[in-house]
Amino acid sequence: MMSSLKLEKARKYEAENGSKIKGRPGFHLTPLTGWMNDPNGFSYYGGCYHLFYQYHPYNTNWGPMHWGHAKSKDLLKWEYLPAVLAPDELHDSFGCFSGCAVTTKQGSHLLMYTGVRKVLESNKIKEYQVQCIAVGNGVDYVKYETNPVISGETVPEDSSTTDFRDPKIFLDEDLRYSCIVANRRLDAKKHHEGSGQILLYKSDDLYNWEFKSVLISNDNNLGRMWECPDFFKMDEKYILIVSPQDMQADGMEYVPGNGAVCLIGEYDVNAGRFTQDTHHCIDYGIDFYAPQTVLAQDGRRIMIGWMQNWDTATTYNRGHRWFGQTSLPREIFLKDNRMYQLPIREIENYRKNKVEHRDVCIKGEVKLDRVFGRETDMEMRFTQAEGTWIQIRFAMEGKIYSSVEYDFSKEILTIDRMYSGTRRSVLNSRSTNLKPFITDGKKSISLRIILDKYSAEIFANGGEKVMSMVVETKTSARQIGFYSDNEVRMDLVKYDLEMIS
Ligand code: FRU
Repeated sequence: MMSSLKLEKARKYEAENGSKIKGRPGFHLTPLTGWMNDPNGFSYYGGCYHLFYQYHPYNTNWGPMHWGHAKSKDLLKWEYLPAVLAPDELHDSFGCFSGCAVTTKQGSHLLMYTGVRKVLESNKIKEYQVQCIAVGNGVDYVKYETNPVISGETVPEDSSTTDFRDPKIFLDEDLRYSCIVANRRLDAKKHHEGSGQILLYKSDDLYNWEFKSVLISNDNNLGRMWECPDFFKMDEKYILIVSPQDMQADGMEYVPGNGAVCLIGEYDVNAGRFTQDTHHCIDYGIDFYAPQTVLAQDGRRIMIGWMQNWDTATTYNRGHRWFGQTSLPREIFLKDNRMYQLPIREIENYRKNKVEHRDVCIKGEVKLDRVFGRETDMEMRFTQAEGTWIQIRFAMEGKIYSSVEYDFSKEILTIDRMYSGTRRSVLNSRSTNLKPFITDGKKSISLRIILDKYSAEIFANGGEKVMSMVVETKTSARQIGFYSDNEVRMDLVKYDLEMIS
């Protein structure tokens, strides 16, 4: 095997700079150096969870994609490992894009990623995306000599060989290795207006793949191109997760831009066809994209996403020497034909300094003893009395704060970072419907707010709705306050979250 100079260079750069980078979140993974986007290769191997990520080590902008690497026993406390892939071969010379990881029958860790190459053809630059493999031991990986293993020639007629990426392998009901790949149909005059579709491939050995079917077509209903598919059985249903580009607003369900969508339905394994009965937004916040799932050792399905938004991520630079972080790992489950999400329960191991306040009356502004902090886990139940709304402000100092607010009459939950100190007019607020439950004839909601240094993740009504956003307010802003126009009753349990190193 030729040793890769590009990978060596990236590893050297990481070794020299990684530990110098300060000001990272407490328990959300950031790139060892430089830029991170999608989580990749989320898997369990050799007694640990492995998480790779789309990575440009040399600065905080998207650039030639490498794969960064970290491992963890509990998905919260991460240990960085050296980068594993660099764009150093002909078919991945423009980048090693997103993909997945599985364990082979021989016990190796196999990565499948998208190789991207740009070629000058009749005076135009044409991009080709193909699926490639690298095999390793959890630290070092060797690219397969006869890559690509799935090339553009295999796509159906009238389908793009430029938008053909983000493979995810799973073991199907027919006991064959199966792989879904995001693709775009050439069903519009302009290439970038074609609609997304998910292709299904089959293999017996993970190296030789044949095209089986189009798993599902988007027909430009939910955005255009679909990126980063994931597909798995849950209870009696199948869930397809996709991240559509170019979405249009639709009521309070979807906002413009890139989104993450969950489709729930039936899967016909013989036909290789998935039919959806329903779909919904995965995260009603501002920053959540390209999630991947892993099946934990104890059967829980855990999802992790990129806690960013493409339209914000590329518009301006922040002050840190890292850019991009993952979301909290979330346990997902089906209830009433919806995908629910809860923070991974291992987070409870990091709870410290319990503070409890019962049946507090919120009217006007209320600040509570020992309720403050930027790395916290707060569980609250609000019950309406005379008040019509309740607002929680956090990351607050002077005029600066971010908030979550519930309107009891409209039954709408809103997150807002307009007053977080931002000077940018990107999306700063988003709302979603939230049905209250009734306690003693009164409307109640429950909220769990998890704050890390630069983010807020809100889990409403037991995980029915989740809202995540990055908050870039300086970390000295640590106050938390409660507000209402009139009486709302609150129960609160709050903990600090502390990673012991
Ligand atoms: C999604 C995505 C993927 C692609 C990767 C490139 O955020 O566009 O489709 O593989 O990012 O970095």
